[in-house]
Amino acid sequence: MRNHVMNGEILRLLKEHRSNFVSGEEMCRHLKVTRTAVWKRIGALRALGYEIEASPRTGYRLVRSPDVLSLWEVGPNLKTKWMGKKIHYYQAIDSTNSAAYQMALRGADEGEAVIAESQEKGRGRLGRPWFSPPFLNLHLSVILRPKIPPQQASLLTLMAAVATANTVERFSGLCPSIKWPNDILLNNRKVAGLLNEIHSETDRIHFVILGMGVNLNMDGKALPKEIRTKATSLKEEMGRPVSRKEFLQSLLKELEGWYSTFSKKGGAPILKAWRARSRIKGKKVRVTSFRETLVGVAIDVDTDGALILKTRTGGRRRIVAGDIEYR
Ligand code: BTN
Repeated sequence: MRNHVMNGEILRLLKEHRSNFVSGEEMCRHLKVTRTAVWKRIGALRALGYEIEASPRTGYRLVRSPDVLSLWEVGPNLKTKWMGKKIHYYQAIDSTNSAAYQMALRGADEGEAVIAESQEKGRGRLGRPWFSPPFLNLHLSVILRPKIPPQQASLLTLMAAVATANTVERFSGLCPSIKWPNDILLNNRKVAGLLNEIHSETDRIHFVILGMGVNLNMDGKALPKEIRTKATSLKEEMGRPVSRKEFLQSLLKELEGWYSTFSKKGGAPILKAWRARSRIKGKKVRVTSFRETLVGVAIDVDTDGALILKTRTGGRRRIVAGDIEYR
């Protein structure tokens, strides 16, 4: 049995016995290894932050689990059928989106997720960095393989935004809004952002990576100065920390539900839910896209997620990608 599988089995046994001891003998029997091997694995788990009491007479007892997002922690109460059932977990990585992309290229299945406690090169939209300090927030990338043409891919971005906003609401009791195309705001500050990347040919998507960054337990003071007035976290808004594990479990469940709705009913229910959280209709906005900056009044979001803008000269423009500022 590989070390990480053994670690998982030991944790399962310890958790099954709740606050009681599991004898060393039972562990050896179950894992079919020697006492020394079990002892080594206990040492490795302690190094990962698990507090495990050990007594030569009674065995081992789990006193406290660390606040980590590994499959060992997230798996047991995860109520999804397939989303996030396989988690690739890292303490540190360059970017979960880049890792998920590479895994998808190598054939990873729909629903596989990459989670990292911190990212060294966390990526935001439009080439910006994403602040990803260790063990505080959520950095999640999920692989999807939808049978849709690439033109519809932005509906999945709207879907991820709706799922994230709903989860934020469930956890905070506050009412988040969505700023086009996919920023989740609480009290007008950004609490979560999405970076979705696709790999496709002209009329077929090979895979989509849904990348979600949610500021959960970070202190406002910890934010870099440039974004301090624009960003927030759930902890900051609620005045207390949230369980990152439960947040993740709920988000995966919410995503699975919305994706199933999308597969059965198409984009209409997603657009409806997205519009209900958006405050954009009728607002004066400045849009910065790759090519240009436009000023106008936002009329709506089109059925494919594009922003429809009435420009100052009275014309209508569809903007597929960009950033907006309310004026
Ligand atoms: C944005 O609002 O600019 C998008 C931010 C997206 C950040 C997430 S964190 C997990 C995933 N991995 C990345 O490198 N980026 C996304």
